[in-house]
Amino acid sequence: MARVLVTRRLPDGGIDPLVEAGHELVTNDEDQPFTHAQLCAAVTDVDAVVCLLTDRVDDAVFAAGGDRLKVVANVAVGYDNIDVGAATAAGVAVCNTPGVLDETTADLAFLLVLAASRLASTAEADLRSGRWHGWGINQYLGRDVHGATLGVIGYGRIGQAVARRATGFGMDVLHHTRHDTGVPGWTDDLDDLLARSDAVTLHVPLNDETRHLIDARRLALMKPTAVLVNTARGPVVDEDALAAALEADQIFAAGIDVYEREPEVHPRLLAAPRTVLLPHVGSASTQTRTRMAQLACEGVVAVLAGKRPPNLVYAG
Ligand code: GLV
Repeated sequence: MARVLVTRRLPDGGIDPLVEAGHELVTNDEDQPFTHAQLCAAVTDVDAVVCLLTDRVDDAVFAAGGDRLKVVANVAVGYDNIDVGAATAAGVAVCNTPGVLDETTADLAFLLVLAASRLASTAEADLRSGRWHGWGINQYLGRDVHGATLGVIGYGRIGQAVARRATGFGMDVLHHTRHDTGVPGWTDDLDDLLARSDAVTLHVPLNDETRHLIDARRLALMKPTAVLVNTARGPVVDEDALAAALEADQIFAAGIDVYEREPEVHPRLLAAPRTVLLPHVGSASTQTRTRMAQLACEGVVAVLAGKRPPNLVYAG
């Protein structure tokens, strides 16, 4: 039996794999993230950690965990909050939750394509605040989604799931990855995809190569009628440049679920016109969040049993 720290309350049923394996649980029942200092203090006598993307797991955490700490499992597919280099140096295995959130996240990305294209948030905000005084033929004129071209940046499981939805809506789909996918619509030229797309959706992980991938120069390549959707990670987009592009009518609209400095939202982006802004809810369905928690816990159970789980990012 091992001791496993679960850094925040998980959905009901999420920790079942740990319970079934008979591990002792150390929990944070507050549903508030630990501070970094609290996290360091909490890892000193555990064999494993199940953490969330709100936890920064860096060399200080691995140092506090010492030789006893064997595995950290992130309840997220993205793991930019974990310093994998420091995990490597400390010999700690890292797991994530690939595969189980693709369709749910793709649903939300497509929701943002639709909502941003049709100015849904602007129209609803007017209605709620009493600024809507009756139907008008020139009101809230959005852009058609059907018949438009969707540019998918990053063509992993989530990007492909969004592309399937787009096909069903009668869109043409382009996609960009560095390596040829062999699928029609592939381009190695990101700038060309940006110039040709009516909606652009981001599905790349956050790393040194993708930080501010969408910057002022690239926003300027987009059509003035185009919408930008980000359900990946906030820092992939330069938020200040995005706000400026919206203010200057350089692009039509934006649908954003992730932010550079969560939970802060850039004040200029909050004030920018024609945005749909959601609080990082891409994978937020009961079924998917429960399955994500279980998958992370299954990874911990496997590593502690000396097995190699399918959701291993790094073997330790
Ligand atoms: C959520 O943002 C995830 O990476 O799973």
